[in-house]
Amino acid sequence: MLDLLLRGARLPGAAQPVEVGIRDGLIAAPEPEAREVIDLRGSLLTPALVEPHIHLDAVLTVGEPRQNQTGSLFEGIAIWGERVKSLTVEDVKRRVRTVLRWQLANGVQHVRSHVDVCDPELRAMRALTELREEVGDQMHLQLVAFPQQGIHSFEDGEELMRKAVALGADVVGGIPHFEISREYGERSVKFTMALAAEHGLRVDIHCDETDDDHSRFVEVMAAETIRLGLQGRVTASHTTAMHSYNNAYAYRVINNIKRAEMNMVTNPLDNSVLQGRFDSYPIRRGHTRVKELLAAGINTCIGHDSVMDPWYPLGYGDPLQAAFVLAHYGQMSGAGELPALIEMITANPARALGVENYGLEVGNRADLVAYTAPTEMDAIRLVAPRRLVLRAGRVVARTEPAATTVIWDGKEEPVTFLKP
Ligand code: FE2
Repeated sequence: MLDLLLRGARLPGAAQPVEVGIRDGLIAAPEPEAREVIDLRGSLLTPALVEPHIHLDAVLTVGEPRQNQTGSLFEGIAIWGERVKSLTVEDVKRRVRTVLRWQLANGVQHVRSHVDVCDPELRAMRALTELREEVGDQMHLQLVAFPQQGIHSFEDGEELMRKAVALGADVVGGIPHFEISREYGERSVKFTMALAAEHGLRVDIHCDETDDDHSRFVEVMAAETIRLGLQGRVTASHTTAMHSYNNAYAYRVINNIKRAEMNMVTNPLDNSVLQGRFDSYPIRRGHTRVKELLAAGINTCIGHDSVMDPWYPLGYGDPLQAAFVLAHYGQMSGAGELPALIEMITANPARALGVENYGLEVGNRADLVAYTAPTEMDAIRLVAPRRLVLRAGRVVARTEPAATTVIWDGKEEPVTFLKP
């Protein structure tokens, strides 16, 4: 007998609803006998959402100690420099506890967070490693040792990175375009990747997050990935400079990213407001080449990046909102491109994070999300609320769909926002 039978589940790409069985926390073939039956009434059902790029240590600090009036990256950095002085382990934990609940309500069950380690006391990393224990199996947290102010451009930078790894970082990060010199940048990539290789960890580097077309550290990442045999375990985040590379260079670098089997993360929410700030008209979009990366068969993912911090005052931790923005900003409104956006917040980041037993096939863990929308297109169009979130077959979040009505010709009638 099944523990749970989900009826009326519309799987990605399928026209007709199907039944999905759950037994012992795993997806099972449907059977007539089940202890509990839930009718999803044609809702889209996907595996758990995966957040491959967020900065949990900075969430919910917007307006502290002051607002970012220009919205620029540089004013954001200055404000963060003031806010970080009052950072405590308990302050970080309190804010992160709130946002993890938001993420779970949105269906997110795997989270990779960058954690700033440019702090002699490593307060944020200590808070996040303790919180990872506290959260247990309710959510899967992966922590990146992230040197916000550089490795070779910050006092004791190398030592702090090593200490963060010893504290329990799962992934080693970097920020080569922010180092003082080109040489420091290259050295920082090599340092990060050697440290990861030495400890058997993954790599996720903030790489070339600038509009400067001379920022070319992603090629160093590709070369080091191949040299150290880290294929599949390395992620380059942001890579917005690629927007401004000449086409011949972009072609070469994309080929080498493919050869190195690297994962790529684009962050449309933050980068749509932060890039192009030095341009007069026309203002560049300042975004990595998502379509070209996907066409080359490179594992490309969408990240949220910030939730209400000095760099991005908006957001509520919903990857679907980031996918909605990329549909516009990345010109991915084609019929085949909209479903690809759903893969960029589910299966693709699951691969980048190395999540096991993931997906809708029988035998995988029943970590599932049902939307108040029947198709991928409708889910993106409506940024549809998550009707139900299941973790290992148990309901862990639910949203009652809003009941909207209009008064038309004097009579009240329901509105669903769905094509009849
Ligand atoms: Fe980031």
